[in-house]
Amino acid sequence: MSDTLISIRNLEKTYKSEKSFLSPKKDSQLVLKNINLDIKKGEIVSLVGESGCGKSTLANCILKLITPEKGEIFFENENILNFNKKETFEYRKKIQMIFQNPYSSLNPKMKIKDTLMEPLIIHKEKNKKEKVEEIIKLVGISKTDLEKYPHEFSGGQRQRIAIARALILKPKFIVADEPVSALDVSICASIINLLIDLKEKLNLTILFISHDLNLVRYLSDKIAVMNKGEIVEFKSTKELFENPSDEYTRYLLSSIRTIKAG
Ligand SMILES: Nc1ncnc2c1ncn2[C@@H]1O[C@H](COP(=O)(O)OP(=O)(O)O)[C@@H](O)[C@H]1O
Ligand SMILES: [Mg+2]
Repeated sequence: MSDTLISIRNLEKTYKSEKSFLSPKKDSQLVLKNINLDIKKGEIVSLVGESGCGKSTLANCILKLITPEKGEIFFENENILNFNKKETFEYRKKIQMIFQNPYSSLNPKMKIKDTLMEPLIIHKEKNKKEKVEEIIKLVGISKTDLEKYPHEFSGGQRQRIAIARALILKPKFIVADEPVSALDVSICASIINLLIDLKEKLNLTILFISHDLNLVRYLSDKIAVMNKGEIVEFKSTKELFENPSDEYTRYLLSSIRTIKAG
């Protein structure tokens, strides 16, 4: 289907731990179990589940940072797991990650200007200076701040800069892995609103990863609920909140209602 941007089929990932003195048997843990997920162009899909359920592992498979043992990941109808080096390089331009800790994408020793310039140099882009100035304005940071270093900014501003870095190559798809989990509640909303705004302006498709069902309600078109490496429910946000069919989804919903009531 042409309106599907990414399509994940029967994905499985196992982590193997090496033999050690403490665990003499070689252990393996099935972290992703038969994952199927379709994301259409222009959608914000959230992936929600408790810590350790496999959300980041799925994100890392999509980004080709780790390799699953089974399954397929189609991006624009091509299986990214079959991509050669050159195809992977091109793919990495179209898909970017925003992390929980902006320091993972900002080099503390580099000026913001150079951090934003770097991907443009790697991908041999033209009009680099103009592109840097355009993107920094779009995320609400002043042009004069380009000469500064990451430590000179607040946590929220650093996340804005990390978002600018993720968007500088004009990707089609963004995976945001717990992008506001390390921020103060007061700053969370401004970053979420920025992502929604940028999604409209730049025609993005977003996979938003979070452990917080309450947070994703506000921004997602659809929600996928993950439990112990399985997607147990995937439907529109409205339907999920009004008519959850899976027991684990109902458990997550009841826990946010209890917190609100308390
Ligand atoms: N590199 C790794 N090697 C071995 N086990 C890992 C590795 N990364 C994650 N795990 C394990 O896989 C499971 C899922 O982790 P993760 O995908 O990070 O979950 P989440 O992002 O939902 O918190 C956890 O049990 C975690 O301990
Ligand atoms: Mg994670």
